[in-house]
Amino acid sequence: MRKPLIAGNWKLNKTITQAEELAAALVAGLKDVSATEIIIAPTFTALNRVAAIIGDAPIQLAAQNCYPQESGAFTGELSPLMLKDAGCGAVIIGHSERRQLLAEDDQLINAKVKKTLESGLLAILCVGETLAERECDEMLEVLSAQIKGGLADLSAEQMANLVIAYEPVWAIGTGKTATDEQAQEAHSFIRGLVQGLFDPATAQSCRILYGGSVKPDNVDGLMAQDDIDGALVGGASLTAEDFCRIVKFEKK
Ligand code: PGA
Repeated sequence: MRKPLIAGNWKLNKTITQAEELAAALVAGLKDVSATEIIIAPTFTALNRVAAIIGDAPIQLAAQNCYPQESGAFTGELSPLMLKDAGCGAVIIGHSERRQLLAEDDQLINAKVKKTLESGLLAILCVGETLAERECDEMLEVLSAQIKGGLADLSAEQMANLVIAYEPVWAIGTGKTATDEQAQEAHSFIRGLVQGLFDPATAQSCRILYGGSVKPDNVDGLMAQDDIDGALVGGASLTAEDFCRIVKFEKK
């Protein structure tokens, strides 16, 4: 019922030429995939050129961030409309690296989500607890605040264009994946939150991706969990072989 979605977050990696090479390898490796939705998020500078390489292959382009204004005096920022113009169909919002390094809060993240949806793009809202928060038993509280804050004032209709990514901060880039059970527990909790904010049908149709050291050797177990609908992949999305294997996960 929920179509699996695998998204690659390239972060601050690859020159334009390298991005074009990776995109070409992904087009070749994934051209026949239809059962799983595929998204890649190169750096801003590579978006337009990667869009040209993707052409009509079944891969959607995402930006890694946006600013919640259409235009104006916002030096250094990009609006969802500009990203759409560059070929994007989606935007990653509220990644933990931005929350931590750039002090993005739930209010700003919510504004970005709204502007992204208004602009007709898919919003990928990232949430997740730090290790300290998990160890202090604050995980559920943190997730609840991030979900409620990020989704504030949205309608159930708008939720059709929104994907949530649960990314425990302690699992990002560390090689420490959450166990299948830990991830399922958090996903099921998040789905419950969405149900509380909206309704059962919206919660059942909302896709929740797992992110944090997803690799070819752990994706199958994660994807076998009831509430895991896909993955947001960082490190392993930088090589075509690994990312293609992740997209072609085998449901156990
Ligand atoms: P990782 O990154 O797969 O390298 O852990 C995931 C992410 O930050 O989206």
